[in-house]
Amino acid sequence: MIIDSSLQHKEDKQLMGIDRNEYQQRREQLMAKIGSGTAIFRSAPMATMHKDVEYVYRQHSDFYYLTGFNEPEAVAVFAPHHEEHRFILFVQPKDPEKETWTGYRCGVENAKAIYGADEAYPITELDEKLPQYLVNADRIYYHLGQDQDFNHKILALWQRLLAGYQKKGQVPTAIADTMPITHPMRLVKSSSEIAIMRKATAISAKAHNRAREFARPGVYEYQVEAEIEHTFRLEGAMGAAYPSIVASGANACVLHYIENNSQMQDNELLLIDAGCSYGYYNGDITRTFPVGGKFTPEQKTLYELVLAAQLAAIEQVQPGKPYNEFHDAAVKVLVEGLMDLGLLRGDIEEIIKEEKYKPFYMHRTGHWLGLDVHDAGAYKHNPETWQTLQPGHILTVEPGIYISPYIKPAEGQPEVPDCWKGIGIRIEDDVLVTETGHDILTADVPKSVAAMER
Ligand code: GLY
Ligand code: MN
Ligand code: MN
Repeated sequence: MIIDSSLQHKEDKQLMGIDRNEYQQRREQLMAKIGSGTAIFRSAPMATMHKDVEYVYRQHSDFYYLTGFNEPEAVAVFAPHHEEHRFILFVQPKDPEKETWTGYRCGVENAKAIYGADEAYPITELDEKLPQYLVNADRIYYHLGQDQDFNHKILALWQRLLAGYQKKGQVPTAIADTMPITHPMRLVKSSSEIAIMRKATAISAKAHNRAREFARPGVYEYQVEAEIEHTFRLEGAMGAAYPSIVASGANACVLHYIENNSQMQDNELLLIDAGCSYGYYNGDITRTFPVGGKFTPEQKTLYELVLAAQLAAIEQVQPGKPYNEFHDAAVKVLVEGLMDLGLLRGDIEEIIKEEKYKPFYMHRTGHWLGLDVHDAGAYKHNPETWQTLQPGHILTVEPGIYISPYIKPAEGQPEVPDCWKGIGIRIEDDVLVTETGHDILTADVPKSVAAMER
């Protein structure tokens, strides 16, 4: 059993596996960027499952990235120009009676001692204490979030400050979003983030290997889901990074199928898309294999095609390559293969340009991966220029083919013969860009045709 004790104790030198100095460095980097501005970050809300039953709390990733602080009802303020306090935390105060019911609170004093705030206040004092950190700022950095009341609070405060312009001659005259600052930071993973990602992906891989052993005809999809999520928790992960997709037969043609309630049949494929969250970082793996142990000829043909597309795409994950190239490589292989099978016809350039393959392959080939499953970071520098892959980027590579029983070919394309219908296949790995190429973090889950059969 892998349980990293550094993840268990908030009082450690490390917060969830990341050294406190690293959080400090991230804050310094942020503050260097905001200069004479003040940045405000709001914690994620506590989500309720129903009535008074709450989900396990999950902090907003930007907030977490900058603070390591994992409680709701908190606000982090960065005011590099302030004479005394550059990093301020507003938190829930300690309250033994409430903590008896809803768990440990760090409290105001520990916000300084453990999380390194220069000053901390109870969240109830936000309205009174926040303005002093904004009055001398030239702009406010704030991301408009889903909490509309809080958005209005910040906008109303800004409006009050603006009213002082004539008297003071200097007030924050703009609000800027924080994304262009935090996203590029989060996009390039540090060595300690990569180490946690290796653990998140290793546990996710182990769960997939266990699930493949377990799955057989007659078993229900939810029973496979239970095996996967059992492994996540047994190995010390926080849980599933997203609702596990366990989709047999034609269910695999529904991209976000999460009902997981069908009984698996002998001649079907099973598509499993599952990953755990470990120390706040996420794995995201998909494998597709025959429930009964042997591919039918059609399943095998399409599986080999998706695998070839995935291998071609992974080849394009290299430092210096534009972000779109791995997607383009996958599309090219898939389209060529579908043309060879007579499922697409015409001019290949035109099929690709006009996206006539989309009834079979309707999503892109990957996304950034990290603190969020679909992680922060722009895919383009500007509308014309794709992001360039760099060492420390982590992305998924996940082509697929989905031939729904209800598939409607693109205009001018042939009808799909019934023998192909109801087959859905995706193969997804998590790939780190390195100095010299790439490292497939999820390589411990096999994907060859031979390994998928038994
Ligand atoms: N599991 C979500 C995704 O692959 O993007
Ligand atoms: Mn996935
Ligand atoms: Mn994915």
